[in-house]
Amino acid sequence: MVKDVNNVLSGFGTTVFEVMSKLAIEHKAINLGQGFPDVDGAEDIRAVAAKEIMEESNQYPPMMGTQKLRRAVADHNHRFYGIAVDPDTDILVTSGATEALADCLMSLINPGDEVILFEPLYDCYQPLVLRAGGIPKYVRLDPPHWHLDEDRLRAAFSDKTKLVLLNTPMNPTGKVFTADELQMIAAATIEHDAYAVCDEVYEHIIFGLARHIPLATLPGMGSRTLRIGSAGKTFSLTGWKVGYITGCTELIAKVAKAHQFITFTTPPALQNAVAYGLDRDDEFYERLQLDMQSKRNYIKYGLESAGFETADCDGTYFMNVDIRSVGFEGSDEEFCRLITTEAGVAAVPVSAFYMSENPESHFARFCFCKREEVLKEAVEKLSDFFSKK
Ligand SMILES: Cc1ncc(COP(=O)(O)O)c(C=O)c1O
Repeated sequence: MVKDVNNVLSGFGTTVFEVMSKLAIEHKAINLGQGFPDVDGAEDIRAVAAKEIMEESNQYPPMMGTQKLRRAVADHNHRFYGIAVDPDTDILVTSGATEALADCLMSLINPGDEVILFEPLYDCYQPLVLRAGGIPKYVRLDPPHWHLDEDRLRAAFSDKTKLVLLNTPMNPTGKVFTADELQMIAAATIEHDAYAVCDEVYEHIIFGLARHIPLATLPGMGSRTLRIGSAGKTFSLTGWKVGYITGCTELIAKVAKAHQFITFTTPPALQNAVAYGLDRDDEFYERLQLDMQSKRNYIKYGLESAGFETADCDGTYFMNVDIRSVGFEGSDEEFCRLITTEAGVAAVPVSAFYMSENPESHFARFCFCKREEVLKEAVEKLSDFFSKK
């Protein structure tokens, strides 16, 4: 008998996302559970990648990322947030935000260090923190407004806090942290001499009056913050897995130690095509925002007219609804199974994004980065189903 494999990761079973996706296929349901667009990213960006593959080198690019992409990420930081960084030393290109998160957590955490996580949280955070030997400390945000409570935040910090892992705009809540909330987080992080790792993959998918403020721009945070972006969400190219980390020279050098042993590099053609994408004019970013906002509005008013109360959503691809508002008294998982098999629309239960005891279990998450005709059909199916109940 061979010995046991690592028991941290093997302890995680099949995710509810896979279960729901399988169920959606079996029942030919519209899948609003999965978080990716149903149309491909811009043709000109893809054309640059194709040309690069045929005409440029396909061998290992520089470990820190191609010069073109590092320059474009540095310019992007400056153009949108006034962050001034050196493309040669302060940017690291990774294979998606997921690798960026793994690099940051592996290079910062020593076994026994505490890590502040905001709950509900994106699914890879807890396994990566645990595998690095960190101890998660959860700060819960409550639906439907997802406000950050200062007492809860303060209670999670201790002299063992190594870092805070912040996701804004936030999956699965659709929350965009406000200037006051960011100020609270910055103050506690500085007081405890901790770091911040900021997952900002939805930085350009933001609605109405909400503004994305990188934590790194707050006074005292620049030298202790690693800011993560990804081409997947900004350009609807989730399969490319091109991510980038911005931070001060000393921190990026430390994170590069993890990157060199995890993936070392990312396909050069994709990097250079993303550089081309990041350089696109303001109109591109404005259109992305307006397009996603119109989908958000469509699903919000559609679900509300089908009888649902919706939670606040100022950014990302995700809209959450209170399942009790249509008279459903079971769990969110039961609800998602029911609508997948009976109404023909799949969503995911928000309880799957909680790792601590007593998860919130009355909300379901719908992903709206889909074509309008798909959203229309989904809303009609849900309206029909619940009007007959
Ligand atoms: C909050 C968040 N972080 C990271 C990722 C993964 O990004 P990437 O595909 O660039 O690894 C996702 C994808 O859904 C996400 O929602």
